[in-house]
Amino acid sequence: MPAPHFTHIADLGGAGVESILAQALAWKKQAPGKHLAEKLLGMVFFNPSLRTRTSFEAAMLRGGGAGIVLDVGGGVWKLEDRLGAIMDSDRAEHLREAVPVLGRYVDLLAVRAFSEGISDADDELDRVIRGFREYSSVPVITMESAREHPCQGLADALTLREKFGSTQRLPVTLSWAPHIKPLAKAVPNSFLLTAAAAGCEVRVVHPKGFDLHPAVLKEAEAYAAQSGGSVTVSHDQNEGLKGSACLYAKAWRPADGVTASLSQPEWQPTLAHFEPMREDAIFMHCLPVRRNVEVSDEVLDSPRSAVVDEAENRFHVQRVLLDRLSRGVLCPE
Ligand code: CP
Repeated sequence: MPAPHFTHIADLGGAGVESILAQALAWKKQAPGKHLAEKLLGMVFFNPSLRTRTSFEAAMLRGGGAGIVLDVGGGVWKLEDRLGAIMDSDRAEHLREAVPVLGRYVDLLAVRAFSEGISDADDELDRVIRGFREYSSVPVITMESAREHPCQGLADALTLREKFGSTQRLPVTLSWAPHIKPLAKAVPNSFLLTAAAAGCEVRVVHPKGFDLHPAVLKEAEAYAAQSGGSVTVSHDQNEGLKGSACLYAKAWRPADGVTASLSQPEWQPTLAHFEPMREDAIFMHCLPVRRNVEVSDEVLDSPRSAVVDEAENRFHVQRVLLDRLSRGVLCPE
């Protein structure tokens, strides 16, 4: 039987998301023993990390296994992913050999490969992740790719569920935020997909020109149709925040072919943004965050901020995912 992989929310579907959240909540209350004893995770990083690297390594070590970190281009050969490439650049090894070789040493492979910033259409292809899936004999888990950061999405949904008890019809607002650089859409995509699968009323708000990819919106709408949630998109941030329980802020770049300013300071969350929201509304962000560019100090330093709880929940959802993948079953019947 081929190895199961977890690289996109589609690998779980709505029922799978529910089952991961339920198990992660249970394991937070009663930690499992050495459920990953003798297991090795190879962690391939094309890009830097604080939370992802530490939470995956912590999950492996606390479960009785171990993680081996491989920094591509920093002690590990630069890797080529393009099929048919004439390999005369500094990329000395192809995924076609590197991935199956790693699979001979470890039980699980994790990979982080951000968007190359070419286009949303290129991100949809998720070439590096697809290469890992195709060439690996062991389960592959994503640590953020061009299209998605599903472990972050699951940690975010777990945080909402803990804070509010239920996510069914919970109004949450995914709001674009300003930045100094055009950032990828993996995190907003994943929050949207996972919150929709968890039954939330997801309101996406952004300035004109910053549309998420239509395929992602369509997928989120399909999850919402199954879960009883909903997805709406508007350019009116204040309207999108009315009565909402969560302001999830994230910077992302304009849609393909659109030129739009990344400096729109009125979109930077301040405490005033919470006035039209529910009294118990929280602030969420995946981190790292640029203070007073994406979000004001007064929000991050207020009791509304749930950013550290979100980061902790990465560990809890990942230990469930690692457990299931190491047993070869991502979604038990
Ligand atoms: N949120 C997140 O993935 O953080 P890192 O980039 O630090 O891993």
